Amino acid sequence: MILVTGGAGFIGSNFVLDWIEATGEPVLNLDALTYAGNLRNLASLQGDPRHVFVQGDICDRPLLDRLFAEHRPRAVLHFAAESHVDRSIHGPGAFMRTNVEGTFTLLEAARQHWSALPADKKAAFRFHHVSTDEVYGSLAPDAPAFTETHAYEPNSPYSASKAASDHLVRAWHHTYGLPVVTSNCSNNYGPYHFPEKLIPLLIVNALAGKPLPVYGDGRQVRDWLYVGDHCSAIRAVLAKGRLGETYNIGGWNEQANIDIVHTVCKLLDELRPDPAGPYKRLITFVADRPGHDRRYAIDARKIERELGWRPAETFASGIRKTVQWYLANADWVADVQSGGYRDWMAQNYATRAPGA
Ligand code: NAD
Ligand code: DAU
Repeated sequence: MILVTGGAGFIGSNFVLDWIEATGEPVLNLDALTYAGNLRNLASLQGDPRHVFVQGDICDRPLLDRLFAEHRPRAVLHFAAESHVDRSIHGPGAFMRTNVEGTFTLLEAARQHWSALPADKKAAFRFHHVSTDEVYGSLAPDAPAFTETHAYEPNSPYSASKAASDHLVRAWHHTYGLPVVTSNCSNNYGPYHFPEKLIPLLIVNALAGKPLPVYGDGRQVRDWLYVGDHCSAIRAVLAKGRLGETYNIGGWNEQANIDIVHTVCKLLDELRPDPAGPYKRLITFVADRPGHDRRYAIDARKIERELGWRPAETFASGIRKTVQWYLANADWVADVQSGGYRDWMAQNYATRAPGA
């Protein structure tokens, strides 16, 4: 059995589904079910004994100790985090608590469990920390992509909290010998992506005839990877990654935000034409994100060379699948657009009126 934290969120739930299908190995899924966690993502596993769900907080040490003692997982896959940069600007406290204190608490519980294991199980144990390319900061337009040795230069409260968690994981390996691996991935997209993030927000707003908010000049660059490819990369790192190493994960797919917006609009024009006219009429330039990183790009040669991993999707195939998934899952979208979602939309976009 493996312990997955944050397995009801976007990437975590995709990972749990992918893992059980690919390996059949049971998952103990610990998730606090914050606004970003949704058990509907895991509906297809209802009644499946290979999925054990526990609602709880990674900062809760007694709970972690109980779960380790009872289920004796052979590995920890740590996804749980506060993950939205804009929310970290409005309220950084939750990011420090979950991403820093939560990772510390989980490391300590894992260390206690691991220390008492017999030698063979001790050697086989893994703590896989799921992190982000944002810890490296922002790239100039012509700078080479981030390698694993790029300096840490986090710029937002979110990326600073993730950088802190990466450092804790590194230190627990160097000081205590905990068998860790860390992966730093670029922007994901795909099914179950919460519609506060750019791609799902574009899809759900377009379908509702609402403005498509583009921060600043829309020329910021992100490196997009289909979520299923992130899951296969994590499986590869867990199985074959060298202890104490970090692996960058990305699909060599840099795109300016405004180009992403046009791609989504064109796909919707094809798949769900709007009698009112092309969706690009809804594009609205709004006030920029404070401290907005200009460009991220991942150099994925290490994971390709050492572990033989390659993404299966191109951006064209992945974004088409994604738009089709949102069109086929209007009930999921309606479900996550609860009162809390509407409050966040009002808070984040009220101060971003066009020209603000
Ligand atoms: P998400 O916000 O969709 O999901 C986070 C999950 O963690 C939710 O289910 C939430 O309920 C749970 N959670 C939050 N606080 C918790 C706590 N204190 N205890 C237990 N559970 C808690 O995030 P995501 O986009 O799926 O990201 C997952 C991980 O991948 C994060 O660590 C993130 O930093 C990293 N990452 C994300 C991306 C991306 O593009 N989304 C890219 C690279 C890395
Ligand atoms: O790079 C990996 C990171 O990608 C992850 O670590 C984060 O958890 C994840 O949220 C994501 O961060 P970004 O800030 O890049 O993602 P987001 O979808 O919020 O924004 C993508 C780009 O689109 C970014 O340049 C900001 C811009 N944007 C975003 C929103 C929500 C807009 O122009 N308009 C919007 O309304």
